[in-house]
Amino acid sequence: MTDREVGIDALSVYIPHFYLDLKDMAQANGVDPDKYYVGLGGKHMAILPPDEDPVTMAAEAAKALVESWNIDKKSIGMVIVGTESSVDGAKPIASFVHGLLGLPTECRVFDAQHACYGATAGLTMALNWCATRDKKALIIATDVARYDVRSAGEPTQGAGAVAMVISSNPSLLKIRQDIDAAYSNHVFDFFRPLYRSTAVVDGKFSLECYLTALECTYERFKKQTGLNLSDLDFLLFHVPFPKMAYKAFARLYEIESKERSLPPLSDIFEDMTGCALWANREVGNIYSGSLYLALAGLLETPNINPATKKVGMFSYGSGCCAEFLLGEFKGDQTRWKGKTGLIGHLSKRVKISYEEYIKIREAYEGKIPLNTLSLGNGSYYKYCGIIEHKRIYDNSSSDAPPMST
Ligand code: COA
Repeated sequence: MTDREVGIDALSVYIPHFYLDLKDMAQANGVDPDKYYVGLGGKHMAILPPDEDPVTMAAEAAKALVESWNIDKKSIGMVIVGTESSVDGAKPIASFVHGLLGLPTECRVFDAQHACYGATAGLTMALNWCATRDKKALIIATDVARYDVRSAGEPTQGAGAVAMVISSNPSLLKIRQDIDAAYSNHVFDFFRPLYRSTAVVDGKFSLECYLTALECTYERFKKQTGLNLSDLDFLLFHVPFPKMAYKAFARLYEIESKERSLPPLSDIFEDMTGCALWANREVGNIYSGSLYLALAGLLETPNINPATKKVGMFSYGSGCCAEFLLGEFKGDQTRWKGKTGLIGHLSKRVKISYEEYIKIREAYEGKIPLNTLSLGNGSYYKYCGIIEHKRIYDNSSSDAPPMST
């Protein structure tokens, strides 16, 4: 470890072009829409069309990152994809992205998997790696959250990717490297056996596991830093559904209010956490990227300038592994405002019906052919299917050499 500042230098988000209103799902499921809107805190859910997948989403987010933030591809020496939506048992998504973007061959390239914690595992490794060299690391969280139709988890689905450049002297968020506030426990709260395309979740148990991990990592964070809730300006959480961030905040508030007087819960929650959740409400759960989607939401919230402020970030992956991070925003918000791509993606989206959502699921699961749907979403990268066991992506108009077929 060195004294060099390390952290997030750039951040871009990719959100699929289609969304479903949770009101339409509630109607189809015979449920009061307020259960989803108020009880879970969601509103819309991003729907991934069948000609896109976790690889194309990761590549889209990384391409936007390189272009919008003027990142020199030659400076990237490591690519880590955090995902629980692998497309191959051996070849990592990071390898496909490396090829699609035409990144240098002098590069370490791999995926990190631990449910929704994968991207944070990649991030913490990259922080240490960047502390001793001038190269940059590309970390991408990409996932599609899928539960069975009419299951309790179904209204918490979503899809999206968040790409980040990690470097020394970062322009966006400095992250403390000397804190080791991690927690792990072997539990079956949420998992996806290899023969399933949808997750198995013991919903209520998973929330308990999340809160236990939060308490343990927070206590470790406090012990190691001497800081507490009152010393932070913002507090972001992994967001499987927006109400979970409220439950998490309320748990820490309960602990802290035994030791010090705090402003009313609803006010302090809104100022520190709630203000950042609007993007999660629009997109749904994107697993490994959910925490970083909240970070993008905070960066792009009108009338909030997080420059020079402190942020606590709680990352949780079922199974489980969790970590509490501490960051400090750099001093110039003009370096990031309007550059994450979040507002652009959300403003151009198209609403689909519940029936179209079901059709898209069937196409993705191979129950109906891809060509029965004409979606035309305008994404740059397309998934074209499997030829001779190899996944094929259309990148014919990119600078990168064509993928082998
Ligand atoms: N109006 C307003 N709120 C309503 C409502 C209505 N008509 N009907 C129900 N609610 C509230 C409930 O009171 C509850 O709120 P609370 O948790 O604050 O008490 C909330 O809506 C959810 O209702 P509940 O009956 O608990 O829902 P559920 O049993 O169908 O499932 C989850 C909820 C969260 C367990 C389920 O969506 C799930 O499994 N999600 C995935 C969890 C996950 O991602 N875990 C991975 C690790 S974090």
